[in-house]
Amino acid sequence: MQYSEKLMDHFKNPRNQGVIDDADAIGEKGNMKCGDIMKVYLKIHDDMIQDIKFETLGCAAAIATSSMLTDLAKGKTLDEALKIDKQDIVDELGGVPAPKFHCSVLAEAALKDAIEQYRAQK
Ligand code: FES
Repeated sequence: MQYSEKLMDHFKNPRNQGVIDDADAIGEKGNMKCGDIMKVYLKIHDDMIQDIKFETLGCAAAIATSSMLTDLAKGKTLDEALKIDKQDIVDELGGVPAPKFHCSVLAEAALKDAIEQYRAQK
């Protein structure tokens, strides 16, 4: 399976990996097929994502797409962040091999879960 250079870079040097202890929202999504899990932590101010971190127990594609998601979401408003979809993440990584495309769903879904949780609390 051929991974793009950018994907390998995000896998080996994930951006924004870790936990936000005083997160305003936490989202989580698991992949039923493989059992991989992504958790996303958000710090939100004035409806804007000030900080975002992730923990992903998963394959190379899952980690790279999680990392790219955090890069794309940081600094965006919640409405803008909700528009980020798996294809945007895949495109930014220079593609993901077809059998691994489903891994990018985790990142998109975990972020949406976090935003929904945040809005539900309000
Ligand atoms: Fe599980 Fe990639 S194989 S997310």
